[in-house]
Amino acid sequence: MGGAEPGPADPAALDTDPELLLRVLCHEFRTPVSALTSLTRALADERLPLTGDDRRAITGLAHEQAVHLQGLLRDAAAGTGALAPAADPAAPLAQVLRGAAALVPPHRRLTGVTRRAGGCPVPRRRTRQVVTNLVENALRHRPAEGRVGIHAAFARRLQEVLGGKWGEMTVANQYLYQGWNCRLPGKYKDLFLDVGTEEMGHVEMIATMITRLLENAPLSLQEAAADNPMVGAIYGGSNPAHFIHGGGGALPVDSAGVPWNGNFITASGNLMADFQLNVTAEAQGRLQVARLFNMTDDPGVKNMLRFLLARDTMHQNMWMAAIEQLKEDGLEEMPVPDAFPDSKEFTEQFSYTYLDFSPGTDASEGRWASGPAPDGKGEFRYDHSPRAHAPEPVLPPGDPRLYGTNPGLAKGAANKVKSKLT
Ligand SMILES: [Fe+2]
Repeated sequence: MGGAEPGPADPAALDTDPELLLRVLCHEFRTPVSALTSLTRALADERLPLTGDDRRAITGLAHEQAVHLQGLLRDAAAGTGALAPAADPAAPLAQVLRGAAALVPPHRRLTGVTRRAGGCPVPRRRTRQVVTNLVENALRHRPAEGRVGIHAAFARRLQEVLGGKWGEMTVANQYLYQGWNCRLPGKYKDLFLDVGTEEMGHVEMIATMITRLLENAPLSLQEAAADNPMVGAIYGGSNPAHFIHGGGGALPVDSAGVPWNGNFITASGNLMADFQLNVTAEAQGRLQVARLFNMTDDPGVKNMLRFLLARDTMHQNMWMAAIEQLKEDGLEEMPVPDAFPDSKEFTEQFSYTYLDFSPGTDASEGRWASGPAPDGKGEFRYDHSPRAHAPEPVLPPGDPRLYGTNPGLAKGAANKVKSKLT
């Protein structure tokens, strides 16, 4: 059934040109025959962990394909109308997708159908054919493991590393505020301002990528489902604010649509505290980008993520080097704040004592339970049975004007208080 794709056929020519009729039939038969083959193969494959419902759904789908083929044959035999579309009753999208989803092994199955999308009526037979073809292609051409991603949904996921708590907007603003507030001229201030400015560049890169991913996205569920029911299903997972508010562009929000917040950043004024937080920010940032890397097959997006991963590697190392430099320069030490006098805290009893509050003593094997502490000023101790250092607190009755439930306050007394207050 190979050869050139047949163009739009003139129905009159089909009657007189058997070769053209044969080519049109081959073209029409290719999809249902291929679907029927994969469906029956799936039913026969004992390695697929199919449930009874899965088998019924696949059988139903195969029946649909067989009926479709029968119709094509009947039309061809009649000699006319081979290309005329048969009546195709509508069915809810969720019902149509269920059968196609059963083709995918459960551990690779990723369905994202919202209630609204699932209830959307679509031409049953045509949609089933398209979805089955998509699933079949995905299974045939994708790697042996992994799931299928859709761009519009990924644009929403990328928002996490743009406007989420640990996204680029946070690190850019955090480093810039740390730099603007830095009272130490020279290399430390320069470091903050350099990296903060670079992170602003990352904000621009990700915002631009999100905007590119939203290009040509369907604006309505009907529009999405008409061309591609699978996109239509996933479309329910896209962020409507990207289109209604942002006009198809990125927003300063996270992947759940929660706005970026200035409270996400900390510029403490103490460089040791800031540098340690910055190591954590780069670690969480790299973690999130690494997770996103596994959620997309788009080579352009993957390339951008490769760059960001590399910069996060540099920045984790850089902030750790800055901690060491701060110590070498004699400016700060552990614990923060170094300038607070140890003599004012209960050093002897509590500063280096590990308190065991759980059954078992597994934690006593850790580096934190014995030996020298990292600040070089004490030795860790392990307390197996911490005791109370003060009697159990008993709170006095509260202010009656606040109407808390006070202990020992009988109803009569409460009424007296009430009459005094009124
Ligand atoms: Fe960054």
